[in-house]
Amino acid sequence: MADFVGAVDQGTTSSRFMIFDHDGNEVAKHQLEHTQYLPKSGWVEHDPVEIWERTNVAIQNAVRAAGISASDLTAIGITNQRETTVVWDPRTGRPYYNAIVWQDTRTDRIASALEREGHGDLIRQRAGLPPATYFSGGKIKWILENVDGVREAAEQGHAIFGNTDAWVLWNLTGGPNGGIHATDVTNASRTMLMDLETLDWDEELLGIFGIPRAMLPKINPSSHAEAFGTTRTSRPLSAPVPITGVLGDQQAATVGQVCFAVGEAKNTYGTGNFLLLNTGTEAVHSRNGLITTVAYKFGDAPAVYALEGSIAVTGSAVQWLRDQLHIISNAPESERLAKTVDGSDGIYFVPAFSGLFAPYWRSDARGAIVGLARFHTNGHLARATLESMCYQSRDVVEAMEQDSGVHLDVLKVDGGVTANELCMQIQADVLGVPVSRPVVAETTALGAAYAAGLATGFWRDTDELRAHWHESRRWEPSWTEEQRADGYAGWKKAVERTYGWVD
Ligand code: G3P
Repeated sequence: MADFVGAVDQGTTSSRFMIFDHDGNEVAKHQLEHTQYLPKSGWVEHDPVEIWERTNVAIQNAVRAAGISASDLTAIGITNQRETTVVWDPRTGRPYYNAIVWQDTRTDRIASALEREGHGDLIRQRAGLPPATYFSGGKIKWILENVDGVREAAEQGHAIFGNTDAWVLWNLTGGPNGGIHATDVTNASRTMLMDLETLDWDEELLGIFGIPRAMLPKINPSSHAEAFGTTRTSRPLSAPVPITGVLGDQQAATVGQVCFAVGEAKNTYGTGNFLLLNTGTEAVHSRNGLITTVAYKFGDAPAVYALEGSIAVTGSAVQWLRDQLHIISNAPESERLAKTVDGSDGIYFVPAFSGLFAPYWRSDARGAIVGLARFHTNGHLARATLESMCYQSRDVVEAMEQDSGVHLDVLKVDGGVTANELCMQIQADVLGVPVSRPVVAETTALGAAYAAGLATGFWRDTDELRAHWHESRRWEPSWTEEQRADGYAGWKKAVERTYGWVD
């Protein structure tokens, strides 16, 4: 048997390929950023062709860096930014339009019309999601209605949809020459089009959105020995490698963090934050603004569900300090700048750039910095930015505790921002529970590799994976209860100031 498993991680800002050994250790990786197109306020797009090209190069470079050949890979897993919507022509592989990114708010009228026309409860009940700009269904509808010729093409089977997992899979398995058009249950659960119980596209939901079923990929389990095909033998790999795992990136991180038992949770700090709590084989519906999603489905075993708190803007608020305000030149500088002050001294930054996601779901919200006095500096703003990630995480932890009755003893964290020690300390302080980071912080790619390797027998079972997880660092809360309560009360007041800025 080959010695390694590979994972494509097609994220919001970059695409990477990582190679892991049998102990779950990273052997090599290569990562390339792609362009963020911001054509109008609230619009965010990616070029799918650029994404595919960068993914190719990342795969080739990582394999080279590992000093292995394609035949040393037992399997490949794919994980991806979820919801981001690509519609392309399967005859040519050409996209009809740029990918509409999950953060994009152009579908706010579609989302509010769904609620107004009385479809909200059905979508919540059947798909586990509130009507919102975030999910793919409205983005597909927008492309069908606004891009010339796509509706006719879709009706004739000449326009197909995928999130970026399906786009990468289709290209990797041959593109116009026999590419596999498939996705997994976790990605499909982010569209507002899948029934959480049957795990299939739902005719009634498709009817509400006016989406032809022929556009949609086949829904597979997240881990399966045959369902996703093998890589073609031209670029990027010279030998066929089976693709045996596909998971949305947050579900992949849940698997990478080995949250396999009911009540286990992880919080990933990327462009946004995503806190997922394993609820077992039961799809629990939230009463507190969380969404219900599929966590994973391994082969023929029943699907495992999660409650998710999705936060649109956390790490991307740090990027905003860098790219728009130019007060830092790289992300780690946010920590140095924030350390120039002892606290945010009464200011709060609510980065509601894409409206507010969980637990508020306010598409009419926009960002605000409140409490400013002449005394405040860049340092205070940097500190308030770090605090905003932690307060938003507290909002979803509170909702999760109310929904599930599970009290977190410790918060398992991962993702790029967890390198920011000050931010992690603030997180422990704001929550009042310890925060724990694993040795392998690349849990997203690792989770996709785990799904792929479980399908081929490279790993025996989830108990074997559990043994790979080790803590690297833990932060203990240091604030008094009074500090914590005052800080959070100020945050809640600041959040209210962001409502009502768009219709
Ligand atoms: O739902 C969006 C999420 O999947 C994006 O994750 O890590 O690419 O920002 P990330």
